[in-house]
Amino acid sequence: MRRLLRSAAAKPLVFALALLPLADLVLRAFGDALGANPAEALIRGLGDWTLRLLCLTLAVTPLRQWSGWPELARFRRMLGLFSFFYGLLHFLAYAWLDMGLDLGDITHDIAKRPFILVGSTALLLMLPLAATSFGAAMRALGGARWQALHRSVYAIALLALLHFFWMRAGKNDFAEVGVYAIVVALLLGWRLVQRLRRAVRDRNNRARAGAAAPMSTEQDA
Ligand code: HEM
Repeated sequence: MRRLLRSAAAKPLVFALALLPLADLVLRAFGDALGANPAEALIRGLGDWTLRLLCLTLAVTPLRQWSGWPELARFRRMLGLFSFFYGLLHFLAYAWLDMGLDLGDITHDIAKRPFILVGSTALLLMLPLAATSFGAAMRALGGARWQALHRSVYAIALLALLHFFWMRAGKNDFAEVGVYAIVVALLLGWRLVQRLRRAVRDRNNRARAGAAAPMSTEQDA
């Protein structure tokens, strides 16, 4: 498995796999197979894949640590960019099919419907992450600032979840949202636990270093 993950074919394969949901939606749209309300099915399908790819992006680091396969990190940026790509298509499908590309109607709708506002905020927050996901941007920002900026992915995940929850709340349908809520809670909870562990370890190391310092002074004397 690790050989496959390291191979030159792995990235093109993940790239092709990430395009499959789009190909499926497009083929079904042209084949009149999107059901009674094709516009809604297309917008929703693209929204679903934005969220799924966001969850997959967040799953890379825990999976990498759990499996001991550092090669998994190679796919994180691509998955994050695909999530943004599907989010953009989701927005464009809504702007075109629901709003007839009328900018006035779009801004009015964003201001009027909180779930659309929350989704738009999530998409806007994705923009700087996508723009700075390349080596040159990373170097220009510096490691610490780049990491601080990319921590907004947690806010994006929570906003995306709230967007989905709010939309389904109108239909009193929470089953699927519940599944995503558990997945996002596990992915963000895992990070929180890692941070707490690191903080405790650092504090213990500092305490140990502090305790050792007077002894070495005594020995020196
Ligand atoms: C990170 C950004 C976003 C994510 C992850 C996301 C995700 C989702 C999801 C999962 C759904 C529900 C699909 C389903 O029912 O199966 C949805 C629906 C929807 N989203 Fe988003 N979305 C995002 C941004 C946006 C933006 C920017 C807009 C528009 C400005 C938008 C407009 C809509 C609309 C109109 C629906 C369908 C509502 C309906 O059919 O009643 N979303 N989105």
